[in-house]
Amino acid sequence: MEVLIRDSAEIGCVLGAKIIASVVREKPNAVLGLATGRTPLRLYQELIRLHKSEGLDFSRVTTFNLDEYVGLPPTHEQSYRYFMQENLFRHINIDVKRTHVPNGIAADLHAECRSYETRITDAGGIDIQLLGLGRNGHIGFNEPTGSLRSRTWIKILSEQTLKDNSEVFGSIDAMPKHAITMGIGTILDARRCLLLAFGPSKVRAVEHMIEGPLSAICPGSALQLHPRATVILDETSAAGLHYADHYRWIDKHKFEWQRHG
Ligand code: F6R
Repeated sequence: MEVLIRDSAEIGCVLGAKIIASVVREKPNAVLGLATGRTPLRLYQELIRLHKSEGLDFSRVTTFNLDEYVGLPPTHEQSYRYFMQENLFRHINIDVKRTHVPNGIAADLHAECRSYETRITDAGGIDIQLLGLGRNGHIGFNEPTGSLRSRTWIKILSEQTLKDNSEVFGSIDAMPKHAITMGIGTILDARRCLLLAFGPSKVRAVEHMIEGPLSAICPGSALQLHPRATVILDETSAAGLHYADHYRWIDKHKFEWQRHG
């Protein structure tokens, strides 16, 4: 796992956008795995800036989002489809037909999960999967103790996750309690993973993900198995790491070709 500690979330998000932009420049028909939540917002703004001011071209790009709440139509302001439209898709030249978010109101949710996996495979697999990290260590909506080999499926959200995400819904009662999410096995199949985690609320999850044992109690720790996983942190989320100096040392002594900028 490559661990990059930066001075601020702002710097981390600009770096994350740079990494994704380099994938798109190298492979104009890249398949991007995308995330929602507070963490990637600034990264998406930077991608929009790169599109508008440097001509970063998304016209042949395909995207697959990690997850969607069960029961929310795409027009619902808290649905992840709506989030993606508002925060990225409508600002860039992406073909909306190439953007995939699980359908949380599908008549047959099981069939939707199976079809999502098939669509990812048919697209040639995900070139780079962007991830955030839940305070409880979840990635996608794979909550603690879920299988580390799971595929896209319907998951029950933990109380912690409901609490963390309830603000925008007004109350936990108003929130869906289930979501469709790519499984950990699906995420690990991506050719690259890029996880961003910022702020003091992520300290414990970050420590467990990077330095803790590989364990389903911290789904993010599954990234220890991934051959090409990059984690971008700020100083506050990295505060609990025992080997922070080691990660900084490695970062400092990279070959030029290993650097992301
Ligand atoms: C979002 C997702 C979640 C979030 C995580 C962190 O699509 O899959 O795993 O990345 O809950 O959320 P924020 O960024 O809001 O702290």
